[in-house]
Amino acid sequence: MGENKLRSRGWFGKSGKDGFIYRAWMKNQGYPADEFDGRPVIGICNTFSELTPCNGHFRELAESVKRGVWEAGGFPLEFPVMSLGETLIKPTAMLYRNLASMDVEESIRANPIDGVVLLCGCDKTTPSLVMGAASVDIPTIVVSGGPMLTGRYRGTNIGTSDVWRFSEMYRKGEISQEELTTAEACMCRSNGHCAVMGTASTMACMVESLGLTLPENAAIPAADSRRKVLAHLSGRRIVQMVNEDLRMSQILTKEAFENAIMLNAAIGGSTNFVIHLLAIAGRIGVDLSLDHFNDLCAKIPLLLNLQPSGGYFMEDFYYAGGLPVVIKEMISLLHKDVITVNGKTMAENSSTAECYNPEVIATLEEPVKNLTGLAVVRGNLCEHGAVIKPSASLNPALMKHRGRAVVFEDIDDYKHRLDDPDLDVDENCILVLKNVGPKGYPGMPEVGNMSLPKKILAKGIVDMIRISDGRMSGTGFGTVVLHVSPEAAVGGTLALVQDGDIIELDVENRKLNLEVSDEELNNRRAYWKPLDMGYSRGYVNLHINHVMQAHEGADLDFLRGGSGDKVTRDSH
Ligand code: FES
Repeated sequence: MGENKLRSRGWFGKSGKDGFIYRAWMKNQGYPADEFDGRPVIGICNTFSELTPCNGHFRELAESVKRGVWEAGGFPLEFPVMSLGETLIKPTAMLYRNLASMDVEESIRANPIDGVVLLCGCDKTTPSLVMGAASVDIPTIVVSGGPMLTGRYRGTNIGTSDVWRFSEMYRKGEISQEELTTAEACMCRSNGHCAVMGTASTMACMVESLGLTLPENAAIPAADSRRKVLAHLSGRRIVQMVNEDLRMSQILTKEAFENAIMLNAAIGGSTNFVIHLLAIAGRIGVDLSLDHFNDLCAKIPLLLNLQPSGGYFMEDFYYAGGLPVVIKEMISLLHKDVITVNGKTMAENSSTAECYNPEVIATLEEPVKNLTGLAVVRGNLCEHGAVIKPSASLNPALMKHRGRAVVFEDIDDYKHRLDDPDLDVDENCILVLKNVGPKGYPGMPEVGNMSLPKKILAKGIVDMIRISDGRMSGTGFGTVVLHVSPEAAVGGTLALVQDGDIIELDVENRKLNLEVSDEELNNRRAYWKPLDMGYSRGYVNLHINHVMQAHEGADLDFLRGGSGDKVTRDSH
């Protein structure tokens, strides 16, 4: 791109009073005058926060990016944006994904930035940054923070999925609080995000599958020096991308989204992938629906043997060759000619990939599991669809099952009654949780993989069908139907389910039905009343009034699409 076309020239290229103001204050940071002479200005969008421990090493990572930018003749300027830490933010980081995306979008558009590097790590930091940048559509490259090293506890490998196992053992009295406290330190022993194929790892794979990163981005551990090398090379590359005017919309084509969906199925990625990818597609103007996920995933078996669907960890994935190996294995199914940020195609980027551990990365001929990674079910209980991750089921027999509903009206009801000895439940029942959707429990928390009642656990049962309008942690597992749409809080059929109703789940035929007559449902609907949400101001009120349903990506309705890179109003 010619120097005159750089966005930043609208600030630093000015003369007179305006140019004085734009440059003079920047010079208080010690930049020589020639930095403002027409070099591409590269924003480094940093989600560092000590409250987001998975991104706690991002100051250092940003330094590596800067080195690359300087080397390539660019002018790097780091800026902070709202950071969403999965473990601390209440009620759920997802409530703020769209808010953070607005911060990213407006920070990029309002400033003299020609290209941007997005530093992403913990779950929501990736979609929020990609969504925000997509609405601006300037040259953009993503650098993920990388996974933690595998946890080690008493001689065994552990990761985030073990939190659920430890929790059930603790509830059954099999381990003490002291043992839990010891395990805490053993699990999170290095920088980085969750070490399993949870949502953060899924997002890191997603951005690589979409072509938004350099090859190998997904799996290099945060603690590995090669993560810094990748950041450094990304810094160099973004300057070239600005010179080539290679924008996000040229990378994020319909074909790129389809590749990401197929690869997510093969790696056993998180169900949260569906919601985030739909939201990103909505920002960049690609028409994507749940049917695309269902159709494209149907023929893809599980190739990656990582927790929670398998046994290994992200560190093992990297040593086995990383995502390029999966891409190469899948290349006959993928759109192989889509372009990625390095200017090369998917096929070119993966052509030299080699698998160093077939236990970790399997082949299409001999997959880890034949069960597809993701399925979309439909029926009168979820007219707009619901999502299940068959590969995470602990009892494949439940993939086709009829059972009696045991209903919890909301999360408080669930917490209050789950372990009640008088709860009328057995292992053939189906647990139903209402009002935890995008609007009902603002932000749609990850409570969909409900714990089993204690008295069921005591029988040695490890899985039951669970259905809700909520989400599940990418590290969770079980036969769990999620994202029921429309949600209970907007009067979806889920709101009408009662104890004792019969529900049929048939994953092979993609069905989820409530065996209650239309007449009876209409009777119940006549008595249904919307929840009193009780949030009359601020962002939560904005969210409740504008959030779309799960099958549309749960974005805010007025954020769909983009405004491009023009400043909102140029006052000078
Ligand atoms: Fe940050 Fe899992 S808590 S990635």
